[in-house]
Amino acid sequence: MPKDYIFRKASPRDLSAFFPEFAKSLKSQFPEYSSKTKEFFVKREYCLEALKSQLDNKEIVIYLAILASQAVGFLIARYICGGVCLCSWLAVAEGHRGKGLASQLLKMWQNEAKKAGIHKLHLWTGKRNLDFYKKKGFTYVGKIPKNYYGADDYLFYKVIQKPQEKNFLKNISL
Ligand SMILES: CC(C)(COP(=O)(O)OP(=O)(O)OC[C@H]1O[C@@H](n2cnc3c(N)ncnc32)[C@H](O)[C@@H]1OP(=O)(O)O)[C@@H](O)C(=O)NCCC(=O)NCCS
Repeated sequence: MPKDYIFRKASPRDLSAFFPEFAKSLKSQFPEYSSKTKEFFVKREYCLEALKSQLDNKEIVIYLAILASQAVGFLIARYICGGVCLCSWLAVAEGHRGKGLASQLLKMWQNEAKKAGIHKLHLWTGKRNLDFYKKKGFTYVGKIPKNYYGADDYLFYKVIQKPQEKNFLKNISL
């Protein structure tokens, strides 16, 4: 991977610079959702204020791949409960793909989750990414047709350590 990329966790102060990249990516890279649904994502469910509040409250974590001060890749994860953490979004801008950026973002998420006591990573994706997640060591569960926002979702998980009550009965945040 080229050395110029910087990988780090986003702080609330990063959000105003990150949000336009995030919105652009959502609108252009997720063909499983209609334009109207994607408008809803960026104006409501994942609008700047929502991301800021969730980051401030430590409900989500955002890992960034940065080149020349621009976020060219990101992974947003949310701790659910019971030791399970969900990846809500992962994307790398065209022109920066195939260089290991998504792999590095997944690795950061996995390493931090493990340290926090999380035992399982969980995500769903579009059909086009089945081989990618299998390659990254995730186990494919199956297709959930007409799922969130009407899209067909393909469910994956990865067990990263043994589940232990001493971990999942405490408050976990990333
Ligand atoms: C899927 C995505 C995140 C991969 O990002 P990336 O930075 O190019 O991935 P990496 O470079 O880390 O790829 C790791 C390996 O997976 C392979 N790979 C990447 N995308 C793949 C895909 N869609 N299908 C199969 N293999 C894929 C790479 O060739 C590489 O293989 P190698 O280890 O043998 O060299 C990127 O294509 C993307 O942003 N897509 C659009 C948004 C999206 O679909 N996000 C996922 C939704 S949950």
